[in-house]
Amino acid sequence: MDGRMRAVQCHRYAGFDQHGKPLPKPDPLSEVLSLDELPIPQCEAGHVLIDVHYTGVQFPDAFQAQGFYQERPPVPYIPAVDVSGVIREVGEGVTNFQAGDRAIAKLPIGGLAEIAKAPAESVWLAPQGIDLSACANLSRNYVSAYHSLKVVGEISAGGLVLVDGASGGVGMAAVELAKAMGAKVIAAVSSEEKTDFPRQAGADIVLCYGHDKASFRNFKAKANEAAADLGHPNGVDAVIDMVQGELFEAALVSTVRPLGKLVLVGFTAGQKPIRPGMLLIKQAAAVGSLWAEWAKLYPTQHRQNVQEILDFLAQGAVQPRVDRIFAFDDFLQAFELFEQNRGRGNTVVRIKAEVA
Ligand SMILES: NC(=O)c1ccc[n+]([C@@H]2O[C@H](COP(=O)([O-])OP(=O)(O)OC[C@H]3O[C@@H](n4cnc5c(N)ncnc54)[C@H](OP(=O)(O)O)[C@@H]3O)[C@@H](O)[C@H]2O)c1
Repeated sequence: MDGRMRAVQCHRYAGFDQHGKPLPKPDPLSEVLSLDELPIPQCEAGHVLIDVHYTGVQFPDAFQAQGFYQERPPVPYIPAVDVSGVIREVGEGVTNFQAGDRAIAKLPIGGLAEIAKAPAESVWLAPQGIDLSACANLSRNYVSAYHSLKVVGEISAGGLVLVDGASGGVGMAAVELAKAMGAKVIAAVSSEEKTDFPRQAGADIVLCYGHDKASFRNFKAKANEAAADLGHPNGVDAVIDMVQGELFEAALVSTVRPLGKLVLVGFTAGQKPIRPGMLLIKQAAAVGSLWAEWAKLYPTQHRQNVQEILDFLAQGAVQPRVDRIFAFDDFLQAFELFEQNRGRGNTVVRIKAEVA
């Protein structure tokens, strides 16, 4: 490699011009992302260098490259935060990993590269016997989903959750994890062709909410019927909401049981004002779910939660579905999925094949 590696760089935020002025419509990500040659990062104290095998690409990576995400690294930057691979070098002070370990890491940024630098506290050993491609979306999809269910939603065995955006990355992980936790799941998606994926992931009932107010109202009635059929006549214990938009007030608030939780994970359909009185009448709590901030306050509990997810993987209780693996040279296709709302479960870019 001669001290150089291949890495994707984002050279400009696609939603803004060269001077930082917002564009009426974001440029295609193909105009701002490219596969380049860069120096290999240095392994600092407290860090490890990982030979990346797989990188998870998710909705926030595309959103960030457009300049709309809450975190805006200075350009140029290497996108993506979730990787799996093999540790090649261990920095000073790191005693719990060694070169050759199969590892999963959550990076601050820099995942779409042949070699990534990860803080040791955000690295985990990959469960034995699990393909590294199945572990490449651990933090953004699985940790987000588990935090939403367990910590914010307070879901336990026998509980009932409704997950919307359920064919997407976090949604699918929420369906799989809720089932592994012993809960029942109503999965919800916008259209019929998206129903297969959450069904395969184990959802008890899959419903469509469509795209307009009339179909949202119809969905609300069906979701309440489904909750009753699943033994929860007063409504679901928690909604794990990726979508927001008009769906939130039109349907979601009314599906929660009294004192249940509306867990706010994302807002892929944008944000709409809601009447707080709706929450009062329904006696529902709307709570934001942001595991990374919570993990700074409760690092021990956070590591325990990640370990529980890895245990589910090791036991086969969760079997992450990865049906889209793109070659490194085709990385743009992974971003285009999210530009076009075609994300489905885990999306992965193969940087280097694992030798059996
Ligand atoms: N809070 C956290 O810690 C955390 C962590 C990771 C991600 N997130 C957020 O969670 C949300 C979901 O992320 P994800 O990775 O699961 O995304 P994804 O794979 O793209 O799935 C998102 C789903 O949202 C729905 N959607 C509705 N309108 C959309 C639009 N205009 N564009 C794209 N999708 C739309 C789609 O389902 P339907 O077509 O079926 O409606 C889609 O399947 C995002 O807002 C992301 O930023 C939050």
